[in-house]
Order: sequence, then structure tokens, then C-alpha cells
Amino acid sequence: MPPPTSPPYPTLLLLLLLTTISPSPTLQQQSDLDSDCTNRWIHIRHLPPRFNLDILANCSNDHHPFTNNFCPYIPNHGLGPKTHNQSHSWFRTDPSLLELFFHRRMLEYPCLTSDPSAADAIYLPYYAALDSFKYLYGPYYNSSALHGLNLYNFLIHDSPEIWLNRHGHDHFLVLAGTAWDYSQPLGNDPPLWGSSFLELPEFFNVTTLTLESRAYPWQEQSIPYLTSFHPPNLALFDSWIKRVTRSKRSTLMLFAGGGGISSTPNVRRSIRLECENSEKLANTSQSLIEHSNLCEFIDCSNGICEHDPIKIMKPMLRSSFCLQPPGETPTRRSTFDSILAGCIPVFFEELSAKKQYGWHLPEDQYDEFSVMILKEDVVFKGVSVGEVLKGIPRSEVRRKRERLVEMIPRIVYRKHGSSLGLRTKKDAFDIAIEGTLQRIKARVEGVGDQ
Ligand SMILES: *[C@@H]1O[C@H](CO)[C@@H](O)[C@H](O)[C@H]1NC(C)=O
Ligand SMILES: *[C@@H]1O[C@H](CO)[C@@H](O)[C@H](O)[C@H]1NC(C)=O
Ligand SMILES: *[C@@H]1O[C@H](CO)[C@@H](O)[C@H](O)[C@H]1NC(C)=O
Ligand SMILES: *[C@@H]1O[C@H](CO)[C@@H](O)[C@H](O)[C@H]1NC(C)=O
Ligand SMILES: *[C@@H]1O[C@H](CO)[C@@H](O)[C@H](O)[C@H]1NC(C)=O
Repeated sequence: MPPPTSPPYPTLLLLLLLTTISPSPTLQQQSDLDSDCTNRWIHIRHLPPRFNLDILANCSNDHHPFTNNFCPYIPNHGLGPKTHNQSHSWFRTDPSLLELFFHRRMLEYPCLTSDPSAADAIYLPYYAALDSFKYLYGPYYNSSALHGLNLYNFLIHDSPEIWLNRHGHDHFLVLAGTAWDYSQPLGNDPPLWGSSFLELPEFFNVTTLTLESRAYPWQEQSIPYLTSFHPPNLALFDSWIKRVTRSKRSTLMLFAGGGGISSTPNVRRSIRLECENSEKLANTSQSLIEHSNLCEFIDCSNGICEHDPIKIMKPMLRSSFCLQPPGETPTRRSTFDSILAGCIPVFFEELSAKKQYGWHLPEDQYDEFSVMILKEDVVFKGVSVGEVLKGIPRSEVRRKRERLVEMIPRIVYRKHGSSLGLRTKKDAFDIAIEGTLQRIKARVEGVGDQ
């Protein structure tokens, strides 16, 4: 097995590496792999460090939804520390570091150009969600309508021709959060929750890659959450797939998440109650022949499963179905963990995934790799999730799992600097770039027609 292509860089080295804006020669050679760059040229806009590296350097002052600071998750270009010293593919990855990791992956994109006027798209390496913590959780709460305006002012004053060329329609950036947190209407005083980044007319033309978008399409598009699996080569990727397909699934359904303890009816509460009662049902169930356990519950409050992937991946590997009820917002990182584990996701509303990740998980294929049980049926009509799942014939479960496993490469973010063999599979980053280029092309042509 080849060694990993790069040692785990300490933070300082990472900062140095990121300041190198043009790709290194070795990275350019790899563009032979996919040498036709027609319609695929991307220019990385040079931004002052206050929009990216200074935010990382400030990590210990900053706030984070689950921890006092996000410094521990910066190593390995945002993948976080390895789970253990011998691990090549598994990291303690925090999803909010996607902005840093995406930036690192952009630097090895094969069709970079230093000439903005020759580019089909302009990438803004702004760490938008990391920059937002001071508005969301910190001292700038009451100025949250300002989030992003510094960036806009920079763009229209420094080399303004780059923006004005297409009025921002060819620009894109990553915002590693849910649109809900960034679409507070302007003019609430004091503000309610979140910043107004996505409500600023200044950014309406910019394609924004988020983890969750609003119900109706705006400028944002959802892309997968980071999981903890980032293989550096094909052999390690393939050995994980083998483990997933061979895994013995002794639990019918798994619910990994927090919440569900309120007394008002909601789908999490129904699931928790059903799970607690399932032991009684188990003794009379036919399903015991195949599953020795009907339901497993893992408490994932406060991000503990994200930073300790073993805690969640092992139970997912031994479960047939993974329940994905909406929490505070409709989407969950656990959806991507479950796909990665070959645990068939069970959704309770379309906004949880089907209406989100159209580039990565084709909307018309959900029946083939997932299960939908409407939350209203569970909460108000007493539909039992366990009964529905037990009723799915074994052959269909097998087919769904096969389709699900085919989706794994599309939602994995492979490690930066990975082997050429692994680069032949399109990963979540590649698909995000492809979708962005297509969307920008359509926008630019649409504007031209007016
Ligand atoms: C770093 O943190 C300090 C204290 O919260 C803040 O005043 C400053 O603006 C931050 N710098 C950046 C680049 O976010
Ligand atoms: C991992 O490696 C580092 C440096 O090589 C060492 O200091 C540390 O003790 C090791 N940790 C474990 C758990 O082996
Ligand atoms: C924001 O403003 C409200 C009232 O206008 C005030 O009570 C609150 O302390 C302010 N928050 C911060 C973080 O300054
Ligand atoms: C967005 O694009 C429109 C044309 O489609 C243009 O009129 C407008 O000024 C642009 N917005 C910004 C902030 O540049
Ligand atoms: C289920 O059956 C096992 C033994 O088969 C028994 O120990 C357990 O108490 C039963 N559980 C319930 C809730 O009846």
C-alpha cells in the first residue's frame, strides 16, 4: 500500500502552503488526467488574509457552535487531526472547516488560470461561515447585517473590472452552513438569529455553495457535508467499500442524533418513543430472524459524533436503516455518514436531502437508494417506522444498498494530494465544481440575452 502523499502539516506550514496562489508544477502535470479545460477555467481571486488566513489564525478567539474554538479542526487543511496515528483515511473532521478544505482542493484543480478575463468562473477563497461566528455567537451579534459587506467593498474597489466584467455572475464561494443561519431579513433591530449574508443584494449574483439551501432556489446550492472519511488512494477507498458491502447488519434501524425530548409532538420524539418501546416489540417480531436488535439510539448532541467518527460509524455499519428526521433544520451531516456506511437513509421530509443535493444525489433516484416516510404520518397517524421498514422485502433492501454504495464516491471528499487512481472517480468536490461551472454558464448566457 503506498504511503500517504503528504505528511500532516502543522498549522504554520498549512498557512504558508495556502498563500501560494498558483498551483505547483507537480499539480499541473496531473492535469493530463483531464486535459481539456475548455469551459472549465477557474481563476482564484486573490483576497487579503483578513478574509481567510487571519480568520484561522484567530481561531482561539472565535466562537464555534459546539466548542470554545475551532483550532483543533484546522490541521490537514481543514480535515482535522487523524483519528489515530496509523490512520490514513479517517479524521476528526468538523463540517464548518469545509471552506478551508475546499480552498486547498481548488489549488490542485487542473484548470486554474491567473488571468481573470480568461476564466469561466472566479472562486472567492472567503471563509464565510468561519467569519460569521463573531456575528452569530460573538460580540458582533448586533451588527450581523454587515456580514459580507467588507468583502463586497474589497471586490468593487480592488481591481473592480474583475467583478464588473459579469457583475459577479461568474463568482462563487463556499458558505459551510445552512442558509437558514444566513438569511435573516435586513432591518431587524435588534437582530433575530443569524446574519444577512444571503439577503444582501450585493451577493445575489454570486453562486454560493452551502450545506443546506432554502426551500426555493436562490443564489445558493447545497453540497454534501464533510464526513470523516478522506482516503488518499484507490486501495484505501476500495477496502472501505468492501467493508461496507460485507458488513453484517444486525440492527434494523439506527437513530443517531440529539433532541426528541420535548413534550410537543414531533417526529424525533415519535422516533425516540418507538425506539424505547422496541425492546418489547422485539420479542414478538418476525424480524428477529434477520435483525437481533430492532432499534439503536446514539446520542450525538453537541457534535460528539462528528469529532469521534468511530462512535457513529460502527453502529451505522451494523444497521440496515438510518433514520434522518429533521432537527433544528431539515438537513443533517449524519445523512452523509449513513450513505458512507451503506446504511439506507430514511427521510421524513423532502427538504432533508431530495430538494437539496441535486448535483450529487440525483433527485429522480431517491426511491432506489432511500426510504421516505412522511413525518405527518408518523406524528399524527401513528405510523410505526419499524413496521414500515420490516415490511420492505429483503431483495429490495439488498437492491437499495447496492445503489447506495454506488453513490458513495459522489459524497466523499477525497484527501488533497490524493493518488491519480483515486482522482479518476469524481468526488463531492469535483461534482460541486462541475455543477458550479454549468450554473455560471447558464447565468452568464441568461444575462447576455437580456
Ligand atoms: C480576531 O478576533 C478579534 C477579537 O474577537 C476581533 O476583534 C478581530 O476582528 C478578529 N479578526 C478577524 C480577522 O476576524
Ligand atoms: C502519535 O505520534 C506522535 C508523534 O509521532 C506521538 O507523540 C504520539 O504519542 C502518538 N500517539 C499515539 C496515541 O500513539
Ligand atoms: C444587542 O442589542 C440588544 C438591545 O438592543 C442588547 O440587549 C444586547 O445586549 C446587544 N447584544 C450585544 C452582543 O451587544
Ligand atoms: C447583478 O446583476 C445584475 C444584472 O443581471 C446587475 O444589474 C446588478 O448590478 C448586479 N449586482 C451587483 C451587486 O453587481
Ligand atoms: C425479551 O425477551 C428476553 C429473553 O428472550 C427477556 O430477557 C426480556 O426481558 C424480554 N423483554 C421484554 C421487554 O419483554
